[in-house]
Amino acid sequence: MMSVSTASAHSNIALVKYWGKADEVENLPAVSSLSLTLDGLTTTTTVRVDPALTRDQFELDGKPAAETALLRVENFLGSVRRLAGKSDKASVQSVNHFPTASGLASSASGFAALALSASSAYGLSLDRTELSALSRLGSASAARSIFGGFVCLEAGKSSAEPLLPGTEWPLKMLVVIVTLGEKSQSSRSGMLHTQRTSPFYSAWVRESTHLYTQARQAVLDHDLSALGDAMQASTLMMHSTMLAARPSLRYFSPTTWAVVERVEQLRSAGHAAYFTMDAGPHVKVLTQPEQAAQLSESLSRVPGVQRVLCCSAGGDASLHTGLDTGNGSS
Ligand code: PMV
Repeated sequence: MMSVSTASAHSNIALVKYWGKADEVENLPAVSSLSLTLDGLTTTTTVRVDPALTRDQFELDGKPAAETALLRVENFLGSVRRLAGKSDKASVQSVNHFPTASGLASSASGFAALALSASSAYGLSLDRTELSALSRLGSASAARSIFGGFVCLEAGKSSAEPLLPGTEWPLKMLVVIVTLGEKSQSSRSGMLHTQRTSPFYSAWVRESTHLYTQARQAVLDHDLSALGDAMQASTLMMHSTMLAARPSLRYFSPTTWAVVERVEQLRSAGHAAYFTMDAGPHVKVLTQPEQAAQLSESLSRVPGVQRVLCCSAGGDASLHTGLDTGNGSS
């Protein structure tokens, strides 16, 4: 019998970063991270468990996915099947509702949506903590996308925890999309390379503890300047650690730095604006809702910026019910 489930999850941006693993097999983070789930960047995934299939299938944005992506999905579905005690293969259709060719990472929303839809299609009934732990097997940042708002994933822990709903502190995140250069190294291989070769790695792990404590308290206090201070220090320390890896790992483009400079100028002029960068050249800027339009306009004028997306906090990952699960639902 065919069983079908569809789920959606939002991406999240780490304000205090995770980079490095405490356990490679279990995919446990070496440092604590704190993120904001965003409403604008969403993945919707349908899983059909089909006894007629001899191999899992994975279609991404309407096209068969590359072999490496398929292997990651097969591996993940293998974990779901072991939990469910089932063996039937599945077809997975995933759509990223992200601006086309933006180069924004989708593994967080992707594996959170897959964990929710696959666990439901295989008949598992998992609570949010268990879903977060399952998502982590695909990508550690995905563990945070199960929850909306401000979310924590502590070092060595198997699942994330919600800290504060986004509605209780409605900040805006401006996603500044920078022209793409060469394809970046994946975060998975990049962080292992950093961990193995950067002489600054142990300092990064040590300092992250303080940044996480500062950021967590700042969120609870609704203190944007303390949060912004920890946020910028975290991204700069993470990237410095990568820069010192051998060979050096660089995700920025010249435009990344130009946007960072513009954010600093805007803050000197009295705006609340704080930057963070992940494993790619784009810059995400945290700000107050009333300043978002003016900042967005100024940032979009930096040469090399393609566009600026203005995001609010998003909610929990959710299972679709009713008729939107596609054809052949059991
Ligand atoms: O979970 P991954 O493997 O996609 O790694 C995420 C790494 C960063 O985005 C750079 C930081 C983070 O905490 O999300």
